[in-house]
This record gives sequence, structure tokens and C-alpha cells, in this order.
Amino acid sequence: MTAIRLTVNGEGVAADVPPRMHLADLLREQLRLTGTHLGCEQGVCGSCTVLLDGVPVRSCIIQAVACDGLEIRSIEGLDDDPITDELRDAFRREHGLQCGFCTAGMLIAAREIILRVPDADQQRIRHELSGNLCRCTGYVGIINAIHSVIERRRGKGVPVERIRSSVKFEKRREEMSARPSSKDATPASTQPVSASRTAPGASAVPRETESAGIGAAAREGWTQFVENFVIQKPPREVWKMLSDFRRVASCLPGAELTEHNDRNIKGRMNVKLGPIRAAFTGSATVELDPATMTGRIRGAGSDSSSGSRTKANAIYKIAPEESVSVSRVVLSVEYNLQGPLAQFSRSGLAQDFGRRLIAEFATNLNASFGSAGSGESHAAELNAGGILWATVKHRLLALLRRITGRQV
Ligand code: FES
Ligand code: FES
Repeated sequence: MTAIRLTVNGEGVAADVPPRMHLADLLREQLRLTGTHLGCEQGVCGSCTVLLDGVPVRSCIIQAVACDGLEIRSIEGLDDDPITDELRDAFRREHGLQCGFCTAGMLIAAREIILRVPDADQQRIRHELSGNLCRCTGYVGIINAIHSVIERRRGKGVPVERIRSSVKFEKRREEMSARPSSKDATPASTQPVSASRTAPGASAVPRETESAGIGAAAREGWTQFVENFVIQKPPREVWKMLSDFRRVASCLPGAELTEHNDRNIKGRMNVKLGPIRAAFTGSATVELDPATMTGRIRGAGSDSSSGSRTKANAIYKIAPEESVSVSRVVLSVEYNLQGPLAQFSRSGLAQDFGRRLIAEFATNLNASFGSAGSGESHAAELNAGGILWATVKHRLLALLRRITGRQV
């Protein structure tokens, strides 16, 4: 048992929790706050959504011990919240609930959408709510209810509060992903760093990516991240390697190149996410500028079995580090995912996933320099679930280390 202290719905709470107890069980079983519902217990359905330091999280995949010192707000803590009040009325008016099982999670997610995307239209609301499932399939009423609150607030001239996220939580997320544990660490030569922690002298977002709209504000419905990593080879060698599409594909888990010429590529990406298996087939155009060592890729693909579709743009730039025999690759990616796999686009998890995927790519890339580029694929399938689990595990371990001050 571990003794923790946290604030729940504005009140200080002390609890002894077993190491594997998740936050939802703490709320429901110990604190008797049964408004938080448990559906899938694996982070998919969104029924268990609560606010952690103001940010919606799935309480079924957050360990209670990791919440020591944090502030939790469950649906019971939003009794007097004016936006939730408006939403409750709207859900009743628009028939946005049937059995009510998903409703607490829906209300919390909807409140955050109203604050974060105050001009969302119905399409945007659908996208934003894609991580909350209603087993009664009452989506039309739910979307109408949320949209009506947005419209009313707009009509009343309620000032727009563009709340993106809790600063405290974002800071914590940064801290958590800043230092990989020794176990999870990628080789020193491929340490990925997020854009905000770029090494001295390196540009966080290359100007080329900004002018292409990547690295600026994310477009509606698109997920975006900027990442960079170091390769222990001079820039020209790295440029040559990244211009060899077959070698690049062989370093990217799950990727397979089927056809290519100097400018166009066709291929397949095999992805596994829990029970969902998808094989995206698609094509992309590539523009390479050897003078600035910048590459631009624009692609689209679809998976006929799951009905998921994606569009993606990526820009990379290679620059010398302080030592000319070492290069830094800065990569900006934006993608739009639709269909069953779209649930995966939500939250910072998607960015963390991208970072880990790129770290794997960088590791494989470095290894391929040693193996003179055999062209052998490193993984036949991108195990998105495995990488996601590693991401969640890494976050929790980092948080535990921070809380206990010990290696765990
Ligand atoms: Fe937590 Fe389904 S119960 S996401
Ligand atoms: Fe029944 Fe959504 S209203 S699960």
C-alpha cells in the first residue's frame, strides 16, 4: 500500500492505495464517487473520463499512485460548473442520452471541447468526440446537444477562452517524456528530443516546414508533431541514405515499399492496434532539394478492411551538428486519420507515439549504417498497441520516479 494525498472535487483526500489500483477504482470503490463509469477498462471507450489538473484523462489507465499531489475533478465535482449545467440541459433537450452509461464521460469531454474549440462545427465535434463511445449509439443527439451549447454561447457573446490544456499538466508531461529511463533509452546517437528541447544551434522547426504550414498551428482535424534526432554520420551521407527510399522503408517498422521512381512511391503500412489490424496502401510524392538537404513528402492511404483513411505530410531537413561528422535530422509530421483508427489521434498520446516511432526509426537508421543497408525490413508490422503501451508505461514510470525520487 502507498499513502497518497490528492484533491478530489476541491477537497483534500488521503488514501492508501495498492500499487496496481487505477484512478477509477479509487474514485468508485474508496471515495464512492460512482458517477465515473467503467466500460472497457483499457482506455478505449472514454466512459471513465475525469479531469486531472484540468485535462480530461481516462481514469482506467491512470494508476492512483501516480495522482499523488494532483487535482482530480469527476462528474460529481462539476455540479456547479456553468458549462456542464448548460450541457446537462442540452443533453436532456436534444435526447443526448439513453441508458446514460457514457454520459458522465461525454459531458466531461464535451465541456473540454467547448473550452478548447469554442467555434467547433458538427464535423469538428464528431472528430473531437471520437474517443468517447456510446453503446446506445445516441451520437446524433449528443452532437446536437454540444453544438447547441456552442451556438448559444456564441449567440450570447460569451468571450472565447481558448484553453488548450493545463499548463501544469503539460509541464508534467514534458518532464515525463524528457528523460527516458535507462531501460527505455534509445542509443546515445539517436536520442530524440522534442522541438522545445532542441540542442543548442539546431533549429526547432525548420523554416521550410513553417512555410509549408507544418510547425505552425495544427490544422483542424490534423495531428502534428515535430521531432529531431542525431545520426553519427556527416550530413551528406545521411542525405544520401534518406534519399534511398528502399532503405528508408526498411528502417520504418511496418512499412513496405512496392513501387517507386525518383519522385513517386507506392507502398503499404501494416499496423496493429489492439484487435484492429490495418494494412494501409497508398502513394506519396517526394520532393528532394539537395542544396538545402530538405525533403517533402505528401501522401495518402486507406485500409479497405477497417475503412480507415489517412493523409500525411512530412518535411525533413538535415543539418550539421557542432561536429561536422554528426548530423541532426529535424522532422515535421502532420496527419489526418479517419475511420476506426481515428480514436488514436486524440490527446498527447498520439504525439508521444510519433516520437517513439521516430526513435525506433532513428535506431534502425543508425544500425543500417553499420550493416551497409541490407534493405531487410526491421518489422513486418507496426505494433501500435505495443508502442502505445510502452508510451503509457514510460509516462507512469517517470511519474513514479519523480514522486518517489527512486528508480522504479
Ligand atoms: Fe476507461 Fe473505457 S473504461 S476508457
Ligand atoms: Fe447509453 Fe451512451 S447513452 S452508452
